[in-house]
Order: sequence, then C-alpha cells, then structure tokens
Amino acid sequence: MKSELKQIRENTWCITGHQLIPVYKTDESHCILLDTGVRGFRDQLEILLLQAGLKPAGIIQTHTHYDHFGSTAYFQEKYGAVVAMPIGEAEISRTLAGIKSHLFVFPIGQLAHDPKYSDIPCRADLLIEEDQTAVTVAGVTFEVLHTPGHAIDHISIVTPDRVCCVGDALFSEPVMAAMKLPYAFDFTKCLDSIESLRGGDWPVMILSHCGIEKPPYDHLIDVNRDRMLAQYREVLSLVDRPMHSVEICDALGEKMGVCPSVPEKAQDLERFLRPYLECMVDRGDLRLVMDHHALCYAPV
Ligand SMILES: [Fe+2]
Repeated sequence: MKSELKQIRENTWCITGHQLIPVYKTDESHCILLDTGVRGFRDQLEILLLQAGLKPAGIIQTHTHYDHFGSTAYFQEKYGAVVAMPIGEAEISRTLAGIKSHLFVFPIGQLAHDPKYSDIPCRADLLIEEDQTAVTVAGVTFEVLHTPGHAIDHISIVTPDRVCCVGDALFSEPVMAAMKLPYAFDFTKCLDSIESLRGGDWPVMILSHCGIEKPPYDHLIDVNRDRMLAQYREVLSLVDRPMHSVEICDALGEKMGVCPSVPEKAQDLERFLRPYLECMVDRGDLRLVMDHHALCYAPV
C-alpha cells in the first residue's frame, strides 16, 4: 500500500498506508509525530518526512506497542526529537525489562534479538501525569485525553486544529470486524475509554488502524463496544468445564479460527487471551481452580 503525507486539517497532516501516523507541522521545516509506526516502516517514514522538508522536533506517544514505537528512540537520538508520553507507558518503554514485563510470555532474550522490540527502549523527555489534560511539546500545546485499557496508560491526543488522534482506543469498523480477539490490557477500562469518546465534537478523528472519521462517532463507538463484548462472550462460552489456558487456546482455534502456526503467534495468542480470562475472573464470570498442581479456569 502506497504511503503519502496527506493534509487533514490546517497544520494537522497524516502519513497514510497500512497504519496512520498523525503529523503536526510546527513550521515549514519541523513537525511533531503522534506515534512512529512499526520498525519496518522507518525508512519510508523518514523519507516521506524529509521529502516534505520536515524534521521531527517532537513525538507524543499514545502507548508502548511495537507498532506505534518503531522509530521513537531513533528520531530522538538522530534529530533530538523531544519525546512525551504518559507516565505508565514511559515506565514500560524505558528498558527492555519493562517491555518484557508488559509482554510477559516472551523471554527477554527473544525480545533482545527482535528489532521490533529491541529498538523500543527510550527515555521519555516529558512525562504526562494521570491528571494532566494538556502537554506542550516543541512550543505547541496538545490536549490529552486519558483512554487507558488497550494499554496500561494509553492516551488520545487532540491537536490545536481539533483533530482527535485516538491511537488504538478505537479501531475502524473493518479492522475491528477482522480482529478475532481485539487486544485490551484491561478489558473493563478499555470499554470505559471507548465510551468516554462518545459525544466528542472534534471535526476529525484519526484512528491508527485505520480510519479518518467524521462526527458523529456514536456508530464507531457502538461497533467497538459491541465487538469487544461479543468476543468476551465468545471466549466465555468456550470454558464449559475446568480448563487449562492451553485447552482454551485450542478451543479458540477450533471455534474462532485462531490457529497460530509458529511460537511467536502462539505467544501473542496467550498474551491476547489472558486479559480476557483475568477480566472474567475479576467480574465473577469464571473462577480459578486447581487441577492437581495446575491452574484452571472454570465456569461459575
Ligand atoms: Fe496498540
């Protein structure tokens, strides 16, 4: 898919392609990036910016997932870009150990040998506190909306042109329909954050994967909420007896067509599934039981 730098509204632009990267022009030769996309997109991203005569003066991160963080440390070091991020995400992205703690099922040595993870570690220049509603980067003030859940301390960012960049707090309708198991670190907070965006009066909303939306946003919010809840119920229905998580993974493969073929995909599946199971335990929809010396999830 061809990528290009496209104007959205006044100084707010966006790099299009497999995912969307919002770009705010601070002047004719500098910009602030809202996330930096995947590691594999780095060369193309840098060329697109340089062809437009833009150097990154700042970066604001919505969250610390590898597909949003691929060039953040690189631009910080090469161009002196000031990196701002929410305090909870800054703690994760500061070290490879922090990233490992978030990904939990990946051995740290595996992460160290995979550039999509090993290139992430980055010290934030500016921390965004939990009660902070604005952040000023390279002289430009952006509104901050706290939308945790998809990631621990995920934020959405509103540019001075009133373009709301929601990162992964919302997914476009086709992307959401294609996702077998939408990821949420904290399922309950994720639903609350989706709902918190209802009624927003921003003239444009940019979704990282992959939509440029206009108001009203109610249908988009309904689609996100309904899909999350439908998949929650789908997973819950699989647990019809005390089951080990590996048995639930197998059942997912059979019923939902989630069939990992290599270890990394299986690790991702476990990482995606666990928050659903933990939320079900917290909500009282499942209970933890023992099968001899192994942990199982059981219907209530
Ligand atoms: Fe994400």
